[in-house]
Amino acid sequence: MAKDLRINRRVFTAGAAALAATPLLRRSAFGQATPMPDAEAKLEIFSWWTSGGEAAGLDELFKAFKATSPNVEIVNAAVAGGAGSNAQAALQTRLSGGQAPDSWQSHPGQELFSLYVDPGYTEPLGDLWTEQGWGTAYPQGLIDQVTKDGAQYLVPVGIHRGNVFFYNKKVLADNGVTVGDAMTFDEFFAAAETLKAAGIPALALGDKDTFAAPQFFENTLVGTLGAEAYVGLFDGTTAWDSAEVKTAIETFAKALDYVNPDHAALTWDGAVDVLIQGKAAFTSMGDWAYGEFVKKEVTDQVGWVTHPQSEGAFVTVVDGFTLPKGAPDPVNAANWLRTVGSAAAQEVFSPFKGCIPARIDIDKSKFSGYFTWSIDGLASAASVPSIAHGAAVSPQFRQAIFDATVSFVVDKDVDTYQTALKQGADDAGIGA
Ligand code: GAL
Repeated sequence: MAKDLRINRRVFTAGAAALAATPLLRRSAFGQATPMPDAEAKLEIFSWWTSGGEAAGLDELFKAFKATSPNVEIVNAAVAGGAGSNAQAALQTRLSGGQAPDSWQSHPGQELFSLYVDPGYTEPLGDLWTEQGWGTAYPQGLIDQVTKDGAQYLVPVGIHRGNVFFYNKKVLADNGVTVGDAMTFDEFFAAAETLKAAGIPALALGDKDTFAAPQFFENTLVGTLGAEAYVGLFDGTTAWDSAEVKTAIETFAKALDYVNPDHAALTWDGAVDVLIQGKAAFTSMGDWAYGEFVKKEVTDQVGWVTHPQSEGAFVTVVDGFTLPKGAPDPVNAANWLRTVGSAAAQEVFSPFKGCIPARIDIDKSKFSGYFTWSIDGLASAASVPSIAHGAAVSPQFRQAIFDATVSFVVDKDVDTYQTALKQGADDAGIGA
């Protein structure tokens, strides 16, 4: 299982010639190619992309869709809340009530299968994948994460790196802190002490979004255990009650001494603002944060490195879209999926969203700066799945980790936290 969870461009067969635009279809969602007058219908797209960079990225996808379906009205049904905290619950209510939107955002892996495929909410997309030649356009490891019993259930649009440590260049320069190509925990804590002496929190955290502190912890797990042992946490080859996990928890506790005082009141993008304003030096966040820097036109003020000691790993956070059973307009929904699965749409979406295209046959020359760093990172580091963003563990185990982390941020009780994590793993049947 551990191997299956990895997405690594090194093992991909790069290839697939660029695919020609496919004519719009009627009759079935993706059957015989019959030109479709994309008339009166609507297209309702459900996501949690509401922050500045997220909304800007989504808008690029909408524009790409409109280019081929100009008469279709798009209904943006986004529900705010980082990592889908509110959206996923709202969506479950809609799905169980038979009120599916035309397509919704999901991460691949456990989240896709547990929340949507197994309950029978999604259509298999094998025909569309074949029609579009996506079998050679996406990394094999990613295809594995969207495939069940031989059928694909998601069309990936972008790949985020979850273990990025962004920093405010001026704050570091003013305080004589330098950052190289990688950073150790010791280097970070030395910088944190220097900054503390100057009255500046080293870390911007926005844990009003319940994923933010768990994401800091998962990055610390990766940095402490290394990619291989981190992935072992999900198949039982690494024990949740091991000494290494305890070390990661202790490091997490120590880091919490350096967070911004208003962290509990801020969302993840609020914490990004704290960094931009120079009221904190670093933030450990997925690179959707970069979308905020783009939106606010401050990319020149921000630097990045991987979360301490995690440079050998690329924590993948992949977004994709589904085709529901009972989509109000399956034809427009299928055309939406053709759009988000196209290299052209992914190339315009990614720079706004703060991610890289999920396809491997994109034109790399269109990317520079942060994005080139991320593309190269995916090619060279070991890809590992995210806990906080649904791919690595079941929704129940993820929730157990989130709940335990809420308490830990307040009480920093290492043993209680580790016991709760171990219990969550046991309940999930990991290593059983
Ligand atoms: C992730 C998602 C990203 C970004 C982030 C913050 O789960 O994959 O696209 O939106 O949450 O909301």
